[in-house]
Amino acid sequence: MIVCSCQSVSDFDIELALLDILNQPEAPIPTPGVVYRHMQKRMQCCGCAPLAVDVIYAKLEDLERRGLVCPYLSVSTRERLSRIQLQLGKQPVPAGDPALCE
Ligand code: FES
Repeated sequence: MIVCSCQSVSDFDIELALLDILNQPEAPIPTPGVVYRHMQKRMQCCGCAPLAVDVIYAKLEDLERRGLVCPYLSVSTRERLSRIQLQLGKQPVPAGDPALCE
């Protein structure tokens, strides 16, 4: 599934990036900006940011279920992603807002 048409990012690309990111020591919270930077891509219109958060969240759960990422790391990551989802749900941010790309 294509998540970002501007940068041709698929859900599988995001899954591979998450595996790399979450298995680093001192792994950062995988926000869309972190994931895209890891893939050496940069969001342009940021219209995919809400879908990217949903895909990151779903992939995180899947990777945890498959034992490919530490469940303790996943808990804090999920909490942070939930806050981002809430923020996106409560206050729709214009597609071009750079805050979505962080
Ligand atoms: S659709 Fe992803 S940056 Fe435009």
